Amino acid sequence: MPTFKIAVYPGDGIGPEVTAEAVRVLTAAAKLEKDLQLEYTELPWGIEYWKQHGRVVPADFLHVLRPFDAILLGAVGWPALLPDHETLSPLVQIRQAFDQYACLRPAKLYRGLKSVLSGKGPDEIDFVVLRENSEGEYVDNGGRLKRGTPDEFAVQTAVHTRRGVERIMRYGYELARKRRKKLTMVTKSNAQRHAYVLWDDILAELAPQYPDVESERQHCDACAMNFVRWPERFDVVVASNLFGDLLTDLGGVLAGGLGLAPSTNTNPERNFPSMFEPVHGSAPDIAGRGIANPIAAILSAAMLLDHLNQPAAAKRIRTAVEQTLLSGAATPDLGGRLTTQQMGEAVLKTLA
Ligand code: IPM
Ligand code: MN
Repeated sequence: MPTFKIAVYPGDGIGPEVTAEAVRVLTAAAKLEKDLQLEYTELPWGIEYWKQHGRVVPADFLHVLRPFDAILLGAVGWPALLPDHETLSPLVQIRQAFDQYACLRPAKLYRGLKSVLSGKGPDEIDFVVLRENSEGEYVDNGGRLKRGTPDEFAVQTAVHTRRGVERIMRYGYELARKRRKKLTMVTKSNAQRHAYVLWDDILAELAPQYPDVESERQHCDACAMNFVRWPERFDVVVASNLFGDLLTDLGGVLAGGLGLAPSTNTNPERNFPSMFEPVHGSAPDIAGRGIANPIAAILSAAMLLDHLNQPAAAKRIRTAVEQTLLSGAATPDLGGRLTTQQMGEAVLKTLA
């Protein structure tokens, strides 16, 4: 019987609330598969841990996470007590240290839901943003000099490697092959002529190797506009770390809201554990009220099952979510009145 070890890192704010529902649904889906065993280890890290230990994760957190088959993350950050760049730094470190370079964020509008875009429904909104997740604008490289003086300055350097850009693009092409065979690469090479022209060059080199996939490039400003006016023209969108971050909040809201948007942080070679988390953050404004939408976390758990090569269990979850949303079950972000737990319960009841 395949047994997988899952690290559960609920984190801060609404993280623990939505993660509890995701674990319930994950457990039930695995049980229905009969020969699938999941073992959970909960990691009580985050702002509460910081109150006791003066840091949000233990010093050896990467060492602790390394042996797991996958990590299920809720959300991190509690800006009232600690600046976000401190609480969030372990998250980016996990992505980079475990070479989780493929961050897959589907923007798919489920049936029964309305997009903020008028005249666009589930047939028009179904694309995936593939975010380069290991380098680019997110490398921790730079410094601040002459602090506090009028001459103070800051330098923050992005790093784009040929290997890093090529592998994410190939991942995008392979994904497009399994979907509608269109790849859109997003950069800003008209203004940033070193890094993003490297992206352009690599796309031009790879395109002939994937003649069955239509590829195009767009600058990120135009792409943001096109997401809004023509979402149906997108299938797989590949972007650098920062642009991928921006475009996935936009993709999430077009597809019904961030309460529904799941994410992977995948190491495709499986040399390290991959991590699964909702796109949304810890949402301190609604934390503790039990009203956060758990669907993004639940769909992230489905993506975790995909990664563990358990497509049947993953499909059970996605089908249950589809039916639950179609039935009109809704948390306040979707205009309904269900609590986080009731929404989890609704998915559980539909799970078959
Ligand atoms: C995300 C988040 C993170 C990011 C933050 C919390 C560092 O916005 O996962 O999209 O920018 O990657
Ligand atoms: Mn983000």
